[in-house]
Amino acid sequence: MIADRKDNHVRLALEQQRGHIGHNEFEDLSFVHHALAGIDRSDVNLATRFAGIEWPVPLYINAMTGGSTKTGVINRDLAIAARETGVPIATGSMSAYFKDPSSAHTFQVMRHENPDGFIMANINATASVEDARRAVDLLQANALQIHLNTIQETVMPEGDRSYASWPSRIEEIALGVDVPVIVKEVGFGLSRQTVVTLQELGVHVADVGGRGGTNFARIENGRREGADYAYLNNWGQSAPACLLDAQDSGMPLLASGGVRNPLDVARALAVGGAAAGVSGGFLRTLLDGGVSALVAQINTWLDHLAALMTALGARTPSDLMHCDLLVQGTLRAFCLDRGIDTRQLATRSRPFNPAAH
Ligand code: FNR
Repeated sequence: MIADRKDNHVRLALEQQRGHIGHNEFEDLSFVHHALAGIDRSDVNLATRFAGIEWPVPLYINAMTGGSTKTGVINRDLAIAARETGVPIATGSMSAYFKDPSSAHTFQVMRHENPDGFIMANINATASVEDARRAVDLLQANALQIHLNTIQETVMPEGDRSYASWPSRIEEIALGVDVPVIVKEVGFGLSRQTVVTLQELGVHVADVGGRGGTNFARIENGRREGADYAYLNNWGQSAPACLLDAQDSGMPLLASGGVRNPLDVARALAVGGAAAGVSGGFLRTLLDGGVSALVAQINTWLDHLAALMTALGARTPSDLMHCDLLVQGTLRAFCLDRGIDTRQLATRSRPFNPAAH
């Protein structure tokens, strides 16, 4: 049952990536061009730090799969791509392993293929502390993701309707495991209020998992007869909206959901993400072109990101937070209603000072 669901999620996510995904609010963000960048490519360092974690690059392969034979092969290939490019990687939800320990190898393969890489285990918010520890142990994980997915559960034919225990479970897990805990959405976003609550529960990092890329309302509607929850297909907030919304929370933030290219990565970092995560887009490259295509894509993205940072005068990912940004469209409307100062974003840079070089 779970194994079938995992295979169907991959199939439906892939169909989405090959079709038209719809409006993406990263499009609503543009950098103000300043023609004197003032730095060289060799001045750029892509390393990023947040919540005591250090990554060599601000890009990661986000949670997807595991639990069936086919998805075990996908996890193996994703892990090889992560090893070859040095990007951190997350496994998909490990609830299949809790229900059926014989599926362990479909997750463990990630550690076998990528013995020295940064790997994140992934569980849901109903998991016990013991299960959370089992998940971390199985992968010798460097961090633990807990996913929040109320709207996916709502539309999922066999979905959960009990969310009351989630905050206390999250708090117990954050206390009970000895790796950093990252709470993420699966494509509907995390609001400022949610991020603040997560911080109070002892969570170390929030991955906003916003709308605009893989759409689990559409995926689960595709698994329902009559797609009768289709009116939820546009639910939620985009990653840039979430990042701007939670920018003053003090919580370390990761940016994911709808990241399509290196410019989106730069935009995500400029609105406060410590790194940008990609799921559906990388899955498509892997399944269409194999591991070598995914390795080439990730390397190209990292090269382009460094080139964009050079043109923007940003030596480090966090320097991008001092670049001027224009906000337009539906993202601007969101900012207006949520009290986010777009004028400040457009005028926050300091002039390049030749005397300092
Ligand atoms: C996902 N995602 C996901 N997230 C999670 O926390 N646990 C999971 O098991 C899964 N499963 C899963 C399967 C597949 C096939 C895809 C494509 C995605 C959600 C994922 O981590 C991410 O939050 C969203 O896909 C949004 O990012 P993209 O796809 O727009 O880059």
